[in-house]
Amino acid sequence: MDIEVRPCASAQEVKLAIAPITNYFGRSAPNEELAERLLQVLPAPRVYAAWESGRAVGGLGAIPFQLTVPGGRVPAAGVTIAGVLPTHRRRGLLRSMMRALLDAGHARGEPVAYLWATEGTIYGRFGFGLASFIAEMDLARERSAFHAPFSNVGQVRLVPLGTAEELVAPIYERVAVETPGMFARSSVWWQARRLADPELLRRGVGDLQCAVLEHEGHPAAYALYRINPAFQQGIQTGSVAVIEAMAASPEATRGIWRYLLDIDWMARVKADLLPVDHPLLLLMAEPRRLDFTLKDGLWVRLVDVEIAMSARSYQAQGSVVIDVTDEFCPWNAGCWRVGSDGVERSDDAPGLRCDISALGSAYLGGFTWSQLARALRVQELRPGAIAQADIMFQAGRAPWCPEIF
Ligand SMILES: CC(C)(COP(=O)(O)OP(=O)(O)OC[C@H]1O[C@@H](n2cnc3c(N)ncnc32)[C@H](O)[C@@H]1OP(=O)(O)O)[C@@H](O)C(=O)NCCC(=O)NCCS
Repeated sequence: MDIEVRPCASAQEVKLAIAPITNYFGRSAPNEELAERLLQVLPAPRVYAAWESGRAVGGLGAIPFQLTVPGGRVPAAGVTIAGVLPTHRRRGLLRSMMRALLDAGHARGEPVAYLWATEGTIYGRFGFGLASFIAEMDLARERSAFHAPFSNVGQVRLVPLGTAEELVAPIYERVAVETPGMFARSSVWWQARRLADPELLRRGVGDLQCAVLEHEGHPAAYALYRINPAFQQGIQTGSVAVIEAMAASPEATRGIWRYLLDIDWMARVKADLLPVDHPLLLLMAEPRRLDFTLKDGLWVRLVDVEIAMSARSYQAQGSVVIDVTDEFCPWNAGCWRVGSDGVERSDDAPGLRCDISALGSAYLGGFTWSQLARALRVQELRPGAIAQADIMFQAGRAPWCPEIF
């Protein structure tokens, strides 16, 4: 049977295109409400599907984002809903859809694609490199003392989700604009995604709650969380699941986390999408009690090296010439001079040689070139080039995306 890969022409086709990934989540058809929410942030022409006799047997979408990179923001494709029906796997459908998606990004001048991978083995072959880590915590509340006493500034109040956006969005934006890996959220995103609390996503746990810490009459921090109460033989064993906590200042960070750590009845406080350099590591008296564990986060693919590398800043004068190999997007291959004076093709002898996936790993500042060299992901062709590139590429803070899209 012939299979055609092409973009969706309508919302109805998008609903068909998400059926394959829905199948892996154990559902025979997409949930109508979740599909409607997705459609609000994922335009139909940006969804690629593999069509067989009018039925989608594979799907792959790209949400248009403004992604924060060191020193700026760049248009980026947030790759999502990757799925091919188990009846049609390993016949090259993902490869064809990825081809179409990256070619379209290249044509429209959207220089970066990035994603969360459910399996780390899939996306390296398409030029995605691991670009950030994410941390989980699972803390017993009785071991949650901070290293030093402090008096809380401000007052926390609970805010209905319906009125939360105007209070929390400016705080989020303040953090997002200076944190590589975060994306700008539209009002539609807030309403359809982050502040939405559909029953299907609750899976039997508490409602989504929003707490806002106000200081001198202004919102300074917020937390989105769920209370999951539980008792065994009359003893509390429940937990607070922190979905997202953001603050406009270090004091507000400390204050909102103290609030979360001090909710009575809860035995534990859990979170699973924290930045690896979270201030809690240094706020706690006993950091190891956080049970802070790491797993891979964002995978970044530079679709257009010149535009992508020009969109970020560099920490030192000078430049380094990088010889890039790129099998899947050969237009990127060759030597690039990268520096604060610009990014351009170069005939000079390269200082570094690497695959496009390594450049993706270094792009947001999540991995240094020295780390890449120790893992044999980059070759130093000129002594000193790695040390120089490390200084140039440093980002000041770990890349972080607080949300799986
Ligand atoms: C992952 C998935 C989308 C791949 O689709 P597919 O059409 O079977 O992939 P393709 O046939 O185009 O394979 C492309 C390449 O990826 C490899 N590959 C595919 N799925 C893989 C997997 N799960 N693990 C490792 N490699 C995989 C193939 O072997 C092939 O390798 P090659 O380039 O060396 O030939 C599909 O298996 C699927 O839907 N899996 C379950 C849902 C899922 O994991 N989605 C990803 C969410 S991030």
